[in-house]
Amino acid sequence: MKLFLDTAIVSDIEDRKPTGLIAGVTTNPTLIKQSGRDPWKVYRDIIELGIDDLSIEVMGESSSDLISNGLNVNENYGNVATVKLPCTVEGLKACKHLTTIGIRCNMTLVFSVSQAILCALAGATYISPFIGRMDDNSLSGLSLIADISKVYKKQFINTIILAASVRDVQSVGKAFELGADICTIPPKVFDNMAKHVLTDKGLEQFNRDFLE
Ligand code: E4P
Repeated sequence: MKLFLDTAIVSDIEDRKPTGLIAGVTTNPTLIKQSGRDPWKVYRDIIELGIDDLSIEVMGESSSDLISNGLNVNENYGNVATVKLPCTVEGLKACKHLTTIGIRCNMTLVFSVSQAILCALAGATYISPFIGRMDDNSLSGLSLIADISKVYKKQFINTIILAASVRDVQSVGKAFELGADICTIPPKVFDNMAKHVLTDKGLEQFNRDFLE
């Protein structure tokens, strides 16, 4: 059970890394755009914080474009970089190639068990089922996690289920219960995980009693 942060805002990672609870970071082109910064500088800054597993999404129409962009990421950032590829036929071909030469791949935009099966067969290190986007479309993201987990367990698959597009604290607990190995979460969800109104209330009382 691990938590990754899903953000391209370096200060968000810097603020939370000292907890020792962040095992990696995931980014995507939208998060990079929202950061308003040059992607390569963002990646470099995140790595300099000591993050040792950073998913970097590569773009391209064909598997050869995706492979060459993945190799470029690997040359620049070495083993810290996990190449994030779309779950398409071209992405699967690229995954097969890159994993064969020892490069970790995170297959993104996974919305079905059949896609998860193909990603596993392509040797993906991670698959990222997007649970929030499933829910946005009246599908159950958490059921997808459970279904993929059942198939992977039954078939002794090592591909790691990285629950993505997680929008709230409750989904984190549920995703782990249903078989996710990792949840990648926005910084706000990470902060909210530590909060409970009864913790605050209890602590206020303890502080008062301690000082009396
Ligand atoms: C992570 O890998 C995904 O890119 C991210 O979780 C997507 O989240 P969203 O659906 O909230 O944009």
